[in-house]
Amino acid sequence: MKAVKIKNVLQTGAVNTPCSVQGWVRTFRANRFIALNDGSTIDNLQCVVDFERLEESLLKQITTSAALHLEGTLVESQGSGQKVELQVEKITLLGASDPEKYPIQPKKHSLEFLREKAHLRVRTTTFSSVMRVRSALAFAVHEFFQEEGFFYVNTPIITGSDAEGAGEMFHVSTLDPKNPPLTESGDIDYKSDFFGKETNLTVSGQLEAEAYALGLGDVYTFGPTFRAENSNTTRHLAEFWMIEPEMAFYDLNDNMDLAEKFITSVLKKVLSRCEKDLLFLEERFNNEEKSKPQLERSPMGLLEKIRFVVENDFKRVSYTEAYEILRNSKPNKKKKFQFPITEWGVDLQSEHERYLVEKHFNCPVILYDYPANIKAFYMRRNDDEKTVRAMDILFPGIGEIVGGSQREERLEVLEKRIEEMGIDKKELWWYLDLRRFGSVPHSGFGLGFERLVQFTTGMNNIRDVIPFPRTPQNASF
Ligand code: 4AD
Ligand code: MG
Repeated sequence: MKAVKIKNVLQTGAVNTPCSVQGWVRTFRANRFIALNDGSTIDNLQCVVDFERLEESLLKQITTSAALHLEGTLVESQGSGQKVELQVEKITLLGASDPEKYPIQPKKHSLEFLREKAHLRVRTTTFSSVMRVRSALAFAVHEFFQEEGFFYVNTPIITGSDAEGAGEMFHVSTLDPKNPPLTESGDIDYKSDFFGKETNLTVSGQLEAEAYALGLGDVYTFGPTFRAENSNTTRHLAEFWMIEPEMAFYDLNDNMDLAEKFITSVLKKVLSRCEKDLLFLEERFNNEEKSKPQLERSPMGLLEKIRFVVENDFKRVSYTEAYEILRNSKPNKKKKFQFPITEWGVDLQSEHERYLVEKHFNCPVILYDYPANIKAFYMRRNDDEKTVRAMDILFPGIGEIVGGSQREERLEVLEKRIEEMGIDKKELWWYLDLRRFGSVPHSGFGLGFERLVQFTTGMNNIRDVIPFPRTPQNASF
């Protein structure tokens, strides 16, 4: 008999029909009740075996994490919660598992412990829920942009230009690190490297996406990006996934409107599609919050938080307004900020972002018109000559979730900026070409996918929302 997914059995399985399933044993109680999970849903299928009819040797192999194929008849469930359970008639052991050695026991393990077992942690309820929600979010992202008429473009992962001027990139090279060819002046001779030049893993697909927007109109990327910054925080990964829409003929307001509509749309879809997983994650989140000091606890439950974002407009505030609020804030006056707000132009730290979002406005905030000197070279300069048309979206508990801007479409202004910032103009020849041939106002933003998954699942550490996290000193698996 062909096995079916447990999700379908629980949704539509009819009493007195034959049924076959396969999955992993979560628990085996009283030599009689197998809770089987196949990953299709958070729920286990209760399977009842008649142990008197089982061979002793097979019985011994029904252990937590063993893989089984079960055949039998669906009967009305005696237990609570489920309509049906499987009365097992035939058991096939697909893969045995040694319960003494299997590291994940049917008890609560810490997330830190499970991070060391990243290859097995997806068999826990928490991680399987997070990963189902992650998948649903990714699908909703594509759905949103496709429905809005955007084209999905794939920008290169290996790049020859340091797009953001970030200078924190991973080198890509096939040269022998012990014995690289050198130029006459003693530098590494990248001419003899694989690409004939120095190359890196990309920090963003934006510049290439701009080229495509100025031909296809509205495009988006959704791919991995890499940053070699040594930030050991709960919100930074060295390898993360970013969604970068780029739109021709959009100004900054259009950009903010789209970003807000995009985020609320995907959250709404996941609320209705991942109800069971989210209810479980909410319970987990609430328990976690209880262990925090009163003042640091989230004022809302997980689902309430998501609904709040879906139902309320984001607050739009200019950098200058935010600066005034922060300068006059209690923590600033009482010198409680680690980085005091003293003069206009300072970059905002996460303590400031959190104050604005979690204490002052109590809702998602879009900050715009930042000082030029703390933002990238490609952002459009305002007439005041001091600020640029940048926007960051700040979320409760997460901080910055989106960074974007209207792009500088005026060739002379852009060239001047590139020179001022000491960036090599030659490397950007093709990017400048975009301003030479049919340049138009355009805008875009980048949303850190894992930060969105963090917000939606309530997981505190970004390492727990990506299957195999890459962070400083850690690239296991
Ligand atoms: O603000 P960022 O650096 O913006 C850009 O890269 C632009 N090129 C985007 C654009 O306009 N097309 O990064 C965008 C977002 C951040 O807001 C954050 O959510 C996420 O990417 N992000 C990270 N997420 C996880 N780990 C890291 N190390 C991240 N760095 C940025
Ligand atoms: Mg940013």
